[in-house]
Amino acid sequence: MQGSTAIPEALTEALRAARRVCVLTGAGVSAESGVPTFREAQTGLWEKYRPESLATMEAFLADPAFVWKWYRWRRELVAKSRPNAGHIALTELERCFDEFTLVTQNVDRLHRAGGSQNIVEFHGDLFADICIAGCADPAANDDEIPYCNHCGNLLRPGVVWFGEAIPQQALYRSSEAAERCDVMLCVGTSSQVYPAAGLSGLARRSGAVTAEINPEPTGGPEFNFVIAGQSGLILPELVASLKQSSDE
Ligand code: OAD
Repeated sequence: MQGSTAIPEALTEALRAARRVCVLTGAGVSAESGVPTFREAQTGLWEKYRPESLATMEAFLADPAFVWKWYRWRRELVAKSRPNAGHIALTELERCFDEFTLVTQNVDRLHRAGGSQNIVEFHGDLFADICIAGCADPAANDDEIPYCNHCGNLLRPGVVWFGEAIPQQALYRSSEAAERCDVMLCVGTSSQVYPAAGLSGLARRSGAVTAEINPEPTGGPEFNFVIAGQSGLILPELVASLKQSSDE
């Protein structure tokens, strides 16, 4: 029986034979939930600002109230969104393998809401408030400029800013998953930002079969398969073709 039209049979077979799978997602996976991708997100009041000029420690310390205003706007935007068929398909895919690691560059918590379990939030969590001095579990608050209830330092959104290192734990878990996996899927990312963008090359060099899913393929040389399509359409097809072949 012929698999789905969009999914190469050889990719379905590689997934069928796989024990360990790693998936890297970017803003494109949340696009169909109405969350604008990172590179098109700035609208309205924020149109004239580049994210790179707001999402930095320098910008925050220079004007914490202004940067908090931007993040509260982004939180409001994202809070209205719900997981889409692509998020749900990744949750189903996770159940098909002994080891499945979902590394996401997205900070919108939509993979959690979609039911994914083993998630690495590579660029942090938009909805977390963290103390800039590193206190554990500061109490969140909605003051214009929130301060840590333990040490009195500023609270900041729990996302990785430009120029900051990826949290060690996230870096380790995602590199480990990329090195160990049999198949790596790279979904909805422009693959412009390292070290996240380096994971698919690491997987390929470690012997994995790699595939990119993106309506605008990035042309990265590390992909065995390139599927030009929206994640909300392709991922459910990929799950269906995997289940179909295992039912045969
Ligand atoms: P980008 O906005 O750079 O890229 C989004 C990608 O999603 C593009 O390649 C689109 O073609 C693709 N896309 C759009 N709609 C899609 C759909 N329905 N299905 C699948 N793909 C779709 O966002 P990211 O690659 O996630 O880092 O950006 C990576 C990082 O750059 C962000 O996490 C952020 C930014 O600097 C930090 O905040 C540290």
